[in-house]
Amino acid sequence: MTGFSESWLTLREPADNAARSKTLERELESLVQPQRELNILDLGCGTGSNLRYLLPRLGHQQHWTLFDNDAALLASLPNLLSQWANTYGATMRLENNSIVLQAPGFDATIHTIAIDLAKQLPSLPLGSADLVTGSALLDLTSRYWLDTLATLCVENRCATLFVLNYDGEVHWTPSLIDDQLVLQQLNEHQLRDKGFGAAMGPNAGAYFAQQLQILGASVFTDKSDWITTPAQNQLQRAIVDGWAPAAIEQNPSLSTSVEQWQMQRIQQIDNGESTLQVGHLDVLSLPA
Ligand SMILES: C[S@@+](CC[C@H](N)C(=O)[O-])C[C@H]1O[C@@H](n2cnc3c(N)ncnc32)[C@H](O)[C@@H]1O
Repeated sequence: MTGFSESWLTLREPADNAARSKTLERELESLVQPQRELNILDLGCGTGSNLRYLLPRLGHQQHWTLFDNDAALLASLPNLLSQWANTYGATMRLENNSIVLQAPGFDATIHTIAIDLAKQLPSLPLGSADLVTGSALLDLTSRYWLDTLATLCVENRCATLFVLNYDGEVHWTPSLIDDQLVLQQLNEHQLRDKGFGAAMGPNAGAYFAQQLQILGASVFTDKSDWITTPAQNQLQRAIVDGWAPAAIEQNPSLSTSVEQWQMQRIQQIDNGESTLQVGHLDVLSLPA
């Protein structure tokens, strides 16, 4: 499972859905309730997890444009959306290069665009957008990119909802002696360039919220931690198997300790004794 593989995004989707702030959702309702039609941009959409979560919650008529630079993820979206529509009781059809999804509570047109958001953020159609959203994206991006996004959204009077921004806080139960050592390497690794310049990593969510506030938007933040139980062993395993190589890449001299930590963690997960909390911050802003 690689960084943004379809299998990883599918594995994390239920944990993401459970973790997202329900308080911010209620605040967002104050935007959508008076509006019959919404134009929504989803940045770094992956396979469409954020879309699937918000579709029934936003209701009404929705026009979605989904952006990602990974053509393979975008290509997997119609199939995943069709499976979701079947489970949800929605109908889905293709029309003029768009996907049309209809259910008693909503009516949506969706189209996808392959784009490098690191370079092409100013070219997005923000002037006609009511809501700019993204999930698990901001921690990859740089200070400059976040400044630009905040400025463009406020200037164009768009609401923003950016959820599941990793905030650097991790708690394992039971704990291991090297948990902090690995976490420190991981959080430093998070600051490496992920294509947008030096990443803001764990500071991204709070920084973006602060910039929106400075620019005059009404801003709400709330925690959206994953709290994974021993039963979510597959997710915990994937996390350990992703974090260990990152920690070693960050500090190769610690490879023995990190590999030992990885073995002990996997053992605890396989024994059904491991609980993991991964900190996230959700950010919502409404035009002033
Ligand atoms: C952690 S995934 C989150 C995907 C999805 N939002 C979700 O919650 O499942 C980050 C997404 O950002 C996309 N991404 C990363 N760098 C990008 C770039 N420069 N331009 C566009 N998309 C990018 C990746 O392809 C991936 O789909």
